[in-house]
Amino acid sequence: STVYLNGEFVPSDQAKVSVFDRGFLFGDAIYEVVSVIHGGIFDEVPHMERLERSLAKVGMPMPMSQEQFVHTILEVVDRNELDEGVVYMQITRGAGDRTFTYNSLVDAGMTQNIVMFAQHLNLLNAPAIESGLSIKTVPDIRWRRCDIKTVQLLGASLSKTAAAREGYNGIWFVDPDTHMITEGDSNNTFIVQGNTVISPGLHRNVLPGITRNVVKEIVEAAEGLEFEEADFGVDAALAADEAFATSAGLFVTGVTSLDGRPISGSKVGPITKRLRKLYIERAL
Ligand code: PDD
Repeated sequence: STVYLNGEFVPSDQAKVSVFDRGFLFGDAIYEVVSVIHGGIFDEVPHMERLERSLAKVGMPMPMSQEQFVHTILEVVDRNELDEGVVYMQITRGAGDRTFTYNSLVDAGMTQNIVMFAQHLNLLNAPAIESGLSIKTVPDIRWRRCDIKTVQLLGASLSKTAAAREGYNGIWFVDPDTHMITEGDSNNTFIVQGNTVISPGLHRNVLPGITRNVVKEIVEAAEGLEFEEADFGVDAALAADEAFATSAGLFVTGVTSLDGRPISGSKVGPITKRLRKLYIERAL
């Protein structure tokens, strides 16, 4: 595959970054993931806005304009003949002496590293769309700034791997203090009660998902549906009529069991199906 690295397109085996890069040493990097269907990017504007917000929250500048980013993503799509899948992009603070305190990029002579690559994935017809996901709930062991899309993903990676070894498709994190569900390893969480579609409120333990926000807008515009922001625990999720997860890549995907116990009779619910259809139609 062809990787974008700092203004150039290079074969993936030649795309190299310094071992002193702060992304490698400190997880000092911001990333984004956008879905691609038929070569078109989903919701590129809000993704670029979140990228800029995440960078600002860790004191990094946007290394190029939002328009240039979108242009480059399209070139990655093109050069990799990506019909269906995702484009991953990451921006690090750059390479420098390993010190916990960093100087400004200019003072320290650091240059941000910008990487983008494509992943070919089956998004429209993934097996979980019919069956729904079996999710394990686990304590939220992640750092407390999950509102920033950083590459500090070890908590999610360790927890999801352990759950996968037990046969689960994914995990939902539960705040150990409040016992409320925060979000998934890489998705936002929803339940449906009657005609009300509920998702936890946004705070420092939840990423403001782009898909979450689009689904919220779709629900608010839909005949006979209401959106509510409210925290819920495992028992409320098990008692819900339906549950689903959202992300770039998952779009809207049903959750049919939590900790091996069924939700909505182990079937993907009708409102989940309707929202998935509306989400994909809107973006195509
Ligand atoms: N993850 N919560 C977390 C922790 C995430 O990592 C993601 C996305 C989401 C959903 O956000 P969005 O709708 O903007 O994709 C929520 C990407 C897909 C990833 O890490 O691969």
